[in-house]
Amino acid sequence: MHLQSTDLDGLESRYRAALVNSLSGFKPANLVGTADHTGHSNLAIMSSVVHLGSHPPLLALIIRPNPTARHTLDNILDTGCYTINHVGNQFVEAAHQTAARYPREQSEFAATGLEEHWVEGFAAPFVKQASIRMGLRLREHQQLEINDTHFLIGEIVLVDVPDHCVGDDGSVDISAAGSVALSGLDSYHDTRRLRRMAYAKPDLPPTPVA
Ligand SMILES: Cc1cc2nc3c(=O)[nH]c(=O)nc-3n(C[C@H](O)[C@H](O)[C@H](O)COP(=O)(O)O)c2cc1C
Repeated sequence: MHLQSTDLDGLESRYRAALVNSLSGFKPANLVGTADHTGHSNLAIMSSVVHLGSHPPLLALIIRPNPTARHTLDNILDTGCYTINHVGNQFVEAAHQTAARYPREQSEFAATGLEEHWVEGFAAPFVKQASIRMGLRLREHQQLEINDTHFLIGEIVLVDVPDHCVGDDGSVDISAAGSVALSGLDSYHDTRRLRRMAYAKPDLPPTPVA
């Protein structure tokens, strides 16, 4: 298949969405946990979490424009905090189901059987079943001019990672934690680490880390 702008423009909209959503490669599978100011919880699967910086520790999240239902966005703007929980291979089906358009008063936790885990003093729920989870505070919110998408920047203020997945140098083996990857709009992938590579330098050949 070889396409140019005019071809892409002429594609049937669902076909185009499936195709273009596949092009950026493998994406992280995360559940975003939020609550409104009364503590009513919400959970939504999102594939758009991107690392933005380590010091301060920042993650970006992209939320599509939706004038009717945007529970996650409303809650984040309401409380200023949210959780990001890796989807594990044990609960892919429940995680995917959180994308369904439940009414605001119905929590996706109750609807899917995923359990809430609350941390004292933090106003958003974590997913009990997730082995890697983070709590974030909203630092910046922009609605992008190009397509009205919401770009949220959050600072990681809480981290929960199983000890056995953390290496001596701080790197986390997310395959060992059972985290899955996403492609396109609906494909979930198991992961297997092929190898780790040493820091690349111009005068050294590529060197695997033992
Ligand atoms: C695999 C997958 C990935 C998704 N990623 C995103 C995303 O990155 N951003 C987004 O706004 N919606 C994404 N969605 C759609 C939301 O999960 C869906 O709109 C959900 O109903 C939003 O819930 P809310 O209204 O409770 O916030 C994704 C859906 C699926 C199935």
